[in-house]
Amino acid sequence: MALIKRGVTFLMIIMSAIHVSNASVHKVGDSSGWTIIGNIDYKNWAATKNFNIGDTINFKYNAQFHNVMRVTHAMYKSCNGSSPIATFTSGNDFIKITNYGHHFFLCGVPGHCQAGQKVDINVLNVSATSAVAPNKSPSALASPVPVANAPAAPSPNNASPLFVANGAFGFIGLAMTVFCIFYF
Ligand SMILES: *[C@@H]1O[C@H](CO)[C@@H](O)[C@H](O)[C@H]1NC(C)=O
Ligand SMILES: *[C@@H]1O[C@H](CO)[C@@H](O)[C@H](O)[C@H]1NC(C)=O
Repeated sequence: MALIKRGVTFLMIIMSAIHVSNASVHKVGDSSGWTIIGNIDYKNWAATKNFNIGDTINFKYNAQFHNVMRVTHAMYKSCNGSSPIATFTSGNDFIKITNYGHHFFLCGVPGHCQAGQKVDINVLNVSATSAVAPNKSPSALASPVPVANAPAAPSPNNASPLFVANGAFGFIGLAMTVFCIFYF
């Protein structure tokens, strides 16, 4: 049952990822995941990424030792997880970004946020910031969002969006499906 639920969740993630153009999955901490081991600089990790609406943030961790709490800026700054906006505990959480601005997360296990297990996902409004030079790292500037290359949105009455997607996007969908088959 749990397996089916996870499969369905995955399918929904895939479908939403395909539906929104240039959506991607960002695994927090990359191969290290969400942890206090190794003094990972999550601020640095976030600075190298380009977050867009429709993207998914993946927190991968051992659920016995960690969790994920979405919090306010004040709570993020003070590492206060006493009243989170949302709490995630699966050990492999996928959180979709649906709005612009800062999204603050921390590990609610005592001491972990203080040890650096906190991340600020800042989703820039590209159209609003493109006129002003954003104060970002060179790598972020070097990879602008490929808005111009995005395929034209299909009309709602066309075939299922699942099969309209092509190119890199179809490949990602295929890769994720293959991943699902082997993972579950
Ligand atoms: C943490 O936040 C709660 C609710 O916002 C507040 O009541 C509490 O005093 C805070 N704790 C600390 C240590 O700041
Ligand atoms: C993003 O920026 C554009 C251009 O300044 C603006 O028209 C739009 O309202 C902004 N969107 C949000 C959600 O802030």
